[in-house]
Amino acid sequence: MAHGRLITLEGGEGTGKSVQRDRLVDALRKAGLDVVATREPGGSPSAEAVRDLLLAHGGDWRPLSEALIHAAARSQHLAETVRPALATGRWVVSDRFSDSTRAYQGWGQGVPLETLDQLERMVVADGKPDLTLMLDVAPEVGLARAHGRGQAADRYETMDLAFHQRLRDGYRAIAAAEPERCVLIDAGGDVDSVAAAVRAAVRDRLGVPI
Ligand SMILES: Nc1ncnc2c1ncn2[C@@H]1O[C@H](COP(=O)(O)OP(=O)(O)OP(=O)(O)O)[C@@H](O)[C@H]1O
Ligand SMILES: [Mg+2]
Repeated sequence: MAHGRLITLEGGEGTGKSVQRDRLVDALRKAGLDVVATREPGGSPSAEAVRDLLLAHGGDWRPLSEALIHAAARSQHLAETVRPALATGRWVVSDRFSDSTRAYQGWGQGVPLETLDQLERMVVADGKPDLTLMLDVAPEVGLARAHGRGQAADRYETMDLAFHQRLRDGYRAIAAAEPERCVLIDAGGDVDSVAAAVRAAVRDRLGVPI
């Protein structure tokens, strides 16, 4: 059976990752593909337990500790959900993946990027995404959207604008460094126009008629 494809959605707070993940999954299913929708941190039973642990301790984690915890959760997510799905020809669409660790713990919080590279080589190895869609919008816009959801702000949402600007710079740097894997998507338009840009990128890069 053909090997499936891994597509990840990345970007800062409120850029629209979760909404666009759902829209893309719908489009791929309509095209007849068997799709697994997943997320990080989490995406498998043990990794979801790690997510709860991360959230339960709020802002207490040191940045390196947090990167290690994300790496552990990702290792479980890959083993329990992503790799088995891909091996049976299913497509996997993940709301966040390893670029989030680079952007948040690396660019945002100062963990050396070389350390994060080492972790990624251990955990992700040759399982890098086939395509990463980087949703790019001014942090002020993303934060306003996130606040508009009417949920309690998470601890990253309350960090200063300079932090959110570093996240954006980080994602843009990753996209520039790995253009064959990444597509930067202008996420400043309405949900429908961003969804159309996401579908166009998937169509162009992976040849699926959506
Ligand atoms: N293009 C858009 N235009 C206007 N509002 C949007 C757009 N995309 C998403 N939203 C709204 O903004 C809010 C945040 O979107 P969403 O939850 O998808 O972002 P996210 O990137 O997953 O955020 P987080 O990083 O906090 O998980 C939601 O209320 C969503 O409905
Ligand atoms: Mg989300």
